[in-house]
Amino acid sequence: MKQEEGEMKMKTRSGSWVNEMFLTDFYVQTYRDKVDDELSVARDVDGVLKLLGLPKGSHILDWCGGYGRHAIPIAKRGYRVTLLDLSPIHTRLAGREAREAGVKIRIVTKDFRKTPPRIKADGAINMFTAGIGYLSERDDLLALKSLRRALKPGATFVLDTMSPHYIARNYNPSGYTVSNDGSVRKVSFPRVYDFWTGRLISTETLYVGGRKEMVVTSSLRLYQPHELKELLEKAGFEVLSFLGSLAGEPMAIESKRLVVLSLRR
Ligand SMILES: C[S@@+](CC[C@H](N)C(=O)[O-])C[C@H]1O[C@@H](n2cnc3c(N)ncnc32)[C@H](O)[C@@H]1O
Repeated sequence: MKQEEGEMKMKTRSGSWVNEMFLTDFYVQTYRDKVDDELSVARDVDGVLKLLGLPKGSHILDWCGGYGRHAIPIAKRGYRVTLLDLSPIHTRLAGREAREAGVKIRIVTKDFRKTPPRIKADGAINMFTAGIGYLSERDDLLALKSLRRALKPGATFVLDTMSPHYIARNYNPSGYTVSNDGSVRKVSFPRVYDFWTGRLISTETLYVGGRKEMVVTSSLRLYQPHELKELLEKAGFEVLSFLGSLAGEPMAIESKRLVVLSLRR
């Protein structure tokens, strides 16, 4: 009962944190130069393509694909790519950068709970803790069911998210990041784990050029592997394996990531 109440509260509150973080340039400003290292993106793209096991020319859906940091290199390698994301700021950037890179990707600016069934992809990826865990469990199930309808039977799906065990072992109630040029700083404090809901709740303050620009309190459900398995099964996927990284190592208690490989039934 308590947990349900917590989830409902998060549902109304979380709608706003998702909008605050992703419908503004908050995410691009604070994460982009931290996660766009070309070598590690190329390594992750190699890994995820290997896990999907699809031949070139296949159609891959980058679900909650952001500004295209995986979709564009995947398209460059000869796959057909559809990128779906809620944020017009991210999808506009993806479109611009795909054009600059000389590749075509199909872009759908939409909530992942309403993934259009007509996409009919051969496989899907969901990278870097994107969408799943942001809203309520019910919303995640709705989203996964709509993903299922947008995939061909037998399609492979790679979901890459944070490992709850890694977060627990390395728990820090505060965090600090600064952009490479020093102009953008992000202070995360407090960061609290809520035992009633299994969510990590983090207040993030953004400073640009020394001025406080924005404060966003994010709330992320840290799913255990078996909970993700249950959700995926309810949505019509068969879970094949839990991995500890996109390089395909088996999941271990020390693994930083939780990567779930499944098949659309
Ligand atoms: C952590 S970012 C990861 C983006 C991308 N996968 C990457 O690795 O760069 C999360 C992404 O999920 C998108 N997102 C959040 N909620 C969503 C929703 N309800 N529907 C679709 N996209 C959503 C955000 O706009 C953002 O681009």
